[in-house]
Amino acid sequence: MASKKVIAVFGATGAQGGSVARAILKSKKFAVRAVTRDVTRPKALELQDLGAEVVKGDLNDKASVEAVLKGAYGAFVVTNFWDHLSKEKEVCQGKMVADAAKRLGVQHVVYSGLENVKQLSGGKLEVPHFDGKGEVEDYFWSIGIPMTSVRMAAYFENFLSMWKPVKATDGDYYTLALPMGDVPMDGISVADIGTVVLSIFNSPEEFLGKAVGLSAEALTIQQYADVLSKILGKEVQDAKITPEAYEKLGFPAAEEIANMCRFYQMKPDRDVKLTHRLNPKVKSFSQFMSENQGALKGM
Ligand SMILES: NC(=O)c1ccc[n+]([C@@H]2O[C@H](COP(=O)([O-])OP(=O)(O)OC[C@H]3O[C@@H](n4cnc5c(N)ncnc54)[C@H](OP(=O)(O)O)[C@@H]3O)[C@@H](O)[C@H]2O)c1
Repeated sequence: MASKKVIAVFGATGAQGGSVARAILKSKKFAVRAVTRDVTRPKALELQDLGAEVVKGDLNDKASVEAVLKGAYGAFVVTNFWDHLSKEKEVCQGKMVADAAKRLGVQHVVYSGLENVKQLSGGKLEVPHFDGKGEVEDYFWSIGIPMTSVRMAAYFENFLSMWKPVKATDGDYYTLALPMGDVPMDGISVADIGTVVLSIFNSPEEFLGKAVGLSAEALTIQQYADVLSKILGKEVQDAKITPEAYEKLGFPAAEEIANMCRFYQMKPDRDVKLTHRLNPKVKSFSQFMSENQGALKGM
């Protein structure tokens, strides 16, 4: 029997790469080469148990990236801005993978990209964790790599952590503070991304050379709050915070998230219909929260 084509999956121990690695392993269509800086991590061992070849690779080390991509048919590439908070570093990592993919003749890269907001807004808005990925997307195209860029909507999982409802100080209710005004914000469970990416690897003729925006659905912050109220049995409201107030909240990425929401208010292209075609089981926010309400039990 001919051996399966290999797909190298960066970030395989994380949310996006983990979802992609699992979906590919389940399909049995390709072999998975799961990349991690530490092959002894429990998440790496879990993937090994599921049938992945787990290999050591570091996006700051060119030789290791070349070793990972050698002989691979495809690669899923995600870089983690939040690991270092440096656009320059993220751009450097992305371009290094692109150069290595070119040298080694990788036939299909699926890159987890985003828009270069700084460029699109003529310098008015800066969202470093978007801008760097946009720069890397352009670099991939410019050196002629067979690539598909997938631009993810905000993870629904964020509502279980950094965006979880906060207890109001003036009453028995909770608020969601995201400066979106009344504009719907696209979202998706990161766990549903893997099947979407697998479908893209399965249809290179349709997706090579394209950037696709992924979203399960777009809801206003009040609609997100309504779903949370219904499922948690506690009143949750949109805090109706403005971007100007949000950026003064004082935590390190406050200005960046305020600018991200200003960009989201411009409705970047996220294709709900296509996302459902590529993963017919993609969950709505309501389904996602029903399955994950336990994470907010202590509220
Ligand atoms: N949160 C959102 O709503 C959202 C939406 C769209 C896009 N994003 C983007 O998603 C990215 C993060 O992806 P994620 O959520 O999957 O992150 P994650 O769950 O924190 O996982 C990060 C992964 O990156 C790997 N990694 C980090 N530094 C590495 C390096 N130097 N070399 C090799 N691997 C490295 C880690 O592997 P090891 O530690 O095992 O080496 C881990 O598997 C960010 O850049 C963010 O901008 C997030």
